[in-house]
Amino acid sequence: MSDLVVEKKGTTTWITINRPDARNALSRDLNLALSEIATDIDRDETVRAVVITGAGDKAFCAGADLKERKGIPASESGPYINAISSAINDVGAIRKPTICAMNGSAYGGGLELAMACDFRIGVEGSEVGLTEVRLGIMPGAGGTQRLPRIVGESRAKEMIMLGRRIPIARALEIGLVNSVVPRGQLHAAVEGILTELAGCAPLSVIHAKSAVERGASVSLEQGLEIERQCYDVTLYSADRDEGLAAFAAGRPPVYQGH
Ligand code: COA
Repeated sequence: MSDLVVEKKGTTTWITINRPDARNALSRDLNLALSEIATDIDRDETVRAVVITGAGDKAFCAGADLKERKGIPASESGPYINAISSAINDVGAIRKPTICAMNGSAYGGGLELAMACDFRIGVEGSEVGLTEVRLGIMPGAGGTQRLPRIVGESRAKEMIMLGRRIPIARALEIGLVNSVVPRGQLHAAVEGILTELAGCAPLSVIHAKSAVERGASVSLEQGLEIERQCYDVTLYSADRDEGLAAFAAGRPPVYQGH
């Protein structure tokens, strides 16, 4: 069985990191495969949503494969570092909605991967942390940039500069995850979001996501301009007509994604 299992279920692609014995640590080969699948998914018009999860019940992902890295001199580690940051950035660049079903704890690159997704669902009893400073390095796959954007600078610094592992309940409190469910309910929680998404026009979701993301680091004025550009794409879509027609007829809309 491959280290990365990819399954298409209806219009959703499920990606499972499948190295439970290594706590789903991200090896270079796995990162290269993840980059490729993320790019394919972005292009594939039949995919409307993506779920990323991990195999087993011990961890969602323990981050970079530290054993693989150990034998590699710093001067030769560039391709390994590039592979993990590219994989996570490629997941972050998927225009469709992405859900991280965190079946267990997430550390380092594992949490960086989760943060590149739109929605994070954690399970009770797990924890998260950017532990890199305890390993003589620092977050290098987006952690120092995405975490403060999600939870604010002071909470991010506390986690990053102290390399703290925090309980998932605390992660929920600070908005780092969207919800926390008992382990046995993780799948149902994901399906719940997928059902909600199925009632939304795909193009609207894509452009709303884009407006939020592109507007995050510009002035309000520029952000409002970006919002208008994104809005205009939906305004001239067939799904906009379908949404209005369905509303008028009192029936559920059937969106085509264009
Ligand atoms: N890279 C490579 N292998 C890893 C790994 C990683 N990041 N994290 C765990 N593993 C391996 C362990 O070496 C062990 O291998 P072994 O069975 O051959 O000895 C196996 O996974 C199980 O790990 P173990 O620590 O025994 O399991 P656990 O369930 O008690 O704890 C963790 C799991 C994830 C809490 C713990 O392994 C851990 O803290 N890992 C490091 C996490 C981290 O700081 N990541 C940041 C990377 S930048």
